[in-house]
Amino acid sequence: MTDTATLDLDFVRRQFPNLGNGWAYFENAGGSYLPQTVIKRMTDFMSESQVQPAALNPLSALSTERLDTARRLMARMINAETDEIVVGPSTTLNVYVLAQALRPLFRPGDEIIVTNQDHEANSGAWRRLAEFGIEVREWRIDPASGELDPADLDGLLSERTRLVCFPQVSNIVGSVNPVAEITAKAQAAGAMVCVDAVAYAAHRLMDVKALDVDFYLFSLYKLYGPHVALLYGKRERIQEAANQNHFFHEDNISAKLNPGGLNYEAVASLSGIVEYFEAVYQHHFAQPENDLHARLGRVFGLFAEQEQRLSEPFLAYLADQPGVRLIGGGTPGDRRLPTFSFVVEGRRPAEVVEALGGERIAINHGHFYAHRCVEGLGIDPEDGLVRVSMVHYNTGHEVDRLIRALDAVV
Ligand SMILES: Cc1ncc(COP(=O)(O)O)c(C=O)c1O
Repeated sequence: MTDTATLDLDFVRRQFPNLGNGWAYFENAGGSYLPQTVIKRMTDFMSESQVQPAALNPLSALSTERLDTARRLMARMINAETDEIVVGPSTTLNVYVLAQALRPLFRPGDEIIVTNQDHEANSGAWRRLAEFGIEVREWRIDPASGELDPADLDGLLSERTRLVCFPQVSNIVGSVNPVAEITAKAQAAGAMVCVDAVAYAAHRLMDVKALDVDFYLFSLYKLYGPHVALLYGKRERIQEAANQNHFFHEDNISAKLNPGGLNYEAVASLSGIVEYFEAVYQHHFAQPENDLHARLGRVFGLFAEQEQRLSEPFLAYLADQPGVRLIGGGTPGDRRLPTFSFVVEGRRPAEVVEALGGERIAINHGHFYAHRCVEGLGIDPEDGLVRVSMVHYNTGHEVDRLIRALDAVV
């Protein structure tokens, strides 16, 4: 056991079977790799306990216990209570269900604020409520940087605002929005907030209580897990929302926003995400720490430092390229996550992606379903932007390869 402040990359990379494939993987904002702990939990569930939970037999008890444990750990991970979270199929579907559940609380003439920075998941379902007489206002990005200015929200909030929807960080822009500040503003005006944390989850510790958010969502397949997604709602908010499940689930707050059967094997595997973080904690920190959320916080601290080490040379390289337009603020750290979107003068984004693919460097291009954001930046969404997205398991050597390969096309 060591007590080092630096992330042991060899240790970390050994946990992810996909990292042995020879590719430098920089499409993590699309979906991250999974550690062995998650894969094992899923296959264990399927081979040992793939039976209906909550039945009166010991096999079912094992299935129930695995699902309950996963839900409890996911709640602890974000500092929520277990009955305040819903694990559903995707963030897009979770927002859709939530919009249906909140609609009966709104009256014609009530207002919802959405942004043009969001992925469409936290935008389209809210905008569609205009069909029911709800007024939808748009909080717009700065067309040069792609950033949202909280001061602009003041002019949009009114006594009729019921909800403000925005991302903690965009999957394109990379600059972190000050969620606690925005939430306090919205709540002071009497509105709730719905925050998309999908592009944030892999990078920093989440804490729904510290942020005081009403609703908060993220997808586990971007946080080293399978294709399911988590919706958090303050207990009283879920209680007042309209049931979207069978009538007999009306008073079951963990079921009412979760219509349809769950993907049990995927849910059970979520414990493997926490198991991975626990393994990293134990490998790096000698002193015991009783609180899981605090242990996760220390591990995310190691991840943040590694992300910084990766980001600095890449940002310095991009800043030196006169033909490159980088979206979002340029300083790495708490205000800038390692999601870098850019366009290269005289090159189509697809060309850049293909050229790097030839060097076994995986990046992507497009509008990444943040269509309105790309348009708001004055960029044609059909071509979109080039996106390079890093997480803690990327290496400095991979960044060197990335810079060399990019240099041949820029
Ligand atoms: C910021 C952001 N929000 C929402 C989503 C949608 O998540 P899901 O695929 O779980 O619906 C994505 C997916 O790329 C995303 O990047």
